[in-house]
Amino acid sequence: MAALPDNPSDPVFIRVRDLHKQIGQQQILKGMTLDIPRGSGVAIIGGSGTGKSVFLKLVMGLIRASSGSIMVDGVEITGLNERQLGPHRRKIGLLFQDGALFDSLTVEENVAFPLVEAGWKDRQKIKAAVLETLESVDLEEHLHKLPSDLSGGMRKRAALARAIITDPQAVFYDEPTSGLDPVVADSIDHLIRRTQRRRGITSVVVTHDMKCLRAVADQVFYLREGVVYFSGTPAALLESADPVIRQFVEGRSGESS
Ligand SMILES: Nc1ncnc2c1ncn2[C@@H]1O[C@H](COP(=O)(O)OP(=O)(O)OP(=O)(O)O)[C@@H](O)[C@H]1O
Ligand SMILES: [Mg+2]
Repeated sequence: MAALPDNPSDPVFIRVRDLHKQIGQQQILKGMTLDIPRGSGVAIIGGSGTGKSVFLKLVMGLIRASSGSIMVDGVEITGLNERQLGPHRRKIGLLFQDGALFDSLTVEENVAFPLVEAGWKDRQKIKAAVLETLESVDLEEHLHKLPSDLSGGMRKRAALARAIITDPQAVFYDEPTSGLDPVVADSIDHLIRRTQRRRGITSVVVTHDMKCLRAVADQVFYLREGVVYFSGTPAALLESADPVIRQFVEGRSGESS
């Protein structure tokens, strides 16, 4: 079931070079370059509207680059057609910014959905896989509930279960802890880290949350004005003396009151 790596010996899972993305008249990415090591945890940070979600969609192949290169698992994806993008997308689980569960399906049905889509027919096998995945996110007792009957943190965990059930090589998380109280956010951070370490999954986390960043990331990329302005460890980011980084890390708006 799991999509096998095309180039398992390549230590870089995602290699981006001089990536540009224009939408309408707006230049959003203006030459973004980065390497994301296989099996590592990285965070992408940056101000609102700087193109973090756009970047995830480009790497998933949901939207097209204007120019530049995106290699995933050794495969250049920028020129692939829809049919060729299928196997590529199956390598990556995506947790959308809003969780995006199907409201009319139970937790069990939501988590089973990617398996059914992938052509699984055996109900017993589907049930077993769903139960195992729900256990890994501590939701096995809530499988019959609808998303509307779950708390915000439980919804995020259900969405995570749905993203990892197909055993992807990477999971992208867009703001996984936004809108959660600090305790629940902390448990999601741990779950992301555990999933990455236990399953060897490359995790790419877009976040505004400095605590989340320290918990989940080996390396941080700070996106600013369409390029990677800083890359390094979370500790190096937090200790940086660069006034632009300090302002971002400390959450100051840059306006005087
Ligand atoms: N489909 C689209 N059509 C037009 N503009 C778009 C589209 N998608 C994104 N944009 C624009 O691209 C820019 C980057 O958007 P993006 O959603 O990537 O920001 P972000 O960094 O994820 O911000 P946030 O932290 O608020 O989620 C924004 O100015 C946005 O309006
Ligand atoms: Mg976003």
